[in-house]
Amino acid sequence: MDEVLLRPMRVEDVPVAERLSAESFHELDVRHHRPGLPEPELRPPARAGTWIARTTHLLGTDPGGCWVAEVDGALVGFATSFVRELTWCLATYAVRPGLQGRGLGKRLLDAALEHGRGCLRGMLSASSDPRAVRRYRLAGFSLHPQMFLAGTVDRSAIPLVGLGDDKVRAGGPGDVDLLDSLDRRTRGAAHGPDHALMLASWRLLVSDTRTGSGYAYVAPDGTLALLAASDRRTATRLLWTVLADSTGEVLVPHLTAANEWALDVGMAARLELHQEGYLGLRGMKPPAPYVHHGALL
Ligand SMILES: CC(C)(COP(=O)(O)OP(=O)(O)OC[C@H]1O[C@@H](n2cnc3c(N)ncnc32)[C@H](O)[C@@H]1OP(=O)(O)O)[C@@H](O)C(=O)NCCC(=O)NCCS
Repeated sequence: MDEVLLRPMRVEDVPVAERLSAESFHELDVRHHRPGLPEPELRPPARAGTWIARTTHLLGTDPGGCWVAEVDGALVGFATSFVRELTWCLATYAVRPGLQGRGLGKRLLDAALEHGRGCLRGMLSASSDPRAVRRYRLAGFSLHPQMFLAGTVDRSAIPLVGLGDDKVRAGGPGDVDLLDSLDRRTRGAAHGPDHALMLASWRLLVSDTRTGSGYAYVAPDGTLALLAASDRRTATRLLWTVLADSTGEVLVPHLTAANEWALDVGMAARLELHQEGYLGLRGMKPPAPYVHHGALL
């Protein structure tokens, strides 16, 4: 391979990195495609916009955590990472299909990890790509299998919870201190500036009673984006509220074995349980009651 240049990511790289990311994850989906399931599709423009907004945000908060690899002036790989309090997080990471498996990924991950030196903890959500998983394990991450729930909720199973029951309400910017406290208690670090991005992108549900507190972000398509709670009872109430609001197919991704309360809700709602990828952790146990986000963790 011609000489590879590693350099910090710039704002003008973000749309190029987005396409590279879409292509490498599409190629991965095609490689792992199981017969009988729908053909994998390239990331649609609506989701490309979300990716670009998130990466631009991370480049703003953590310019030293976002790196690209270039060959002959063309972008061939990137890694974006960020530090929140004492936790380093990998947001996303890809090398152009056809150039993978030649050591580019190792150099990019090392550059991103350097941004987190001095952090006590690390978090990432790994794809099922054996190359990615090999890199993460060799970098010292414990790999916790991730499960997800999918399907249509059995409406007759929904308990009497929801926005109308006075224990769950719509949240907003005034709740950020509470959200940060719940983040610290569950995953050891506040999301801090990421809450502004999440509030702009998703619907926030908050439960704050005398016996427990928690919150959940829900994407416009009804997918659970992130959930943190002080106790399983509040987490369960929030997840039921998300499911009760869903219409048609629903997805609850990124569940670890430490969050069996969520599996129990899924079983009661007659959703299907599947497995995909890993939550990679350094210096910490799987957070609970907590459902992480794939990039903002
Ligand atoms: C994950 C990714 C960024 C890594 O980049 P890369 O350039 O392929 O990484 P490297 O070449 O440095 O490392 C890959 C390692 O896997 C090994 N490898 C290659 N093919 C493999 C395979 N089929 N099975 C297992 N290991 C494999 C390589 O030999 C190398 O290990 P080594 O350095 O110990 O020899 C890249 O493969 C990619 O874009 N994958 C698709 C998108 C993705 O999954 N991204 C991660 C999101 S969490």
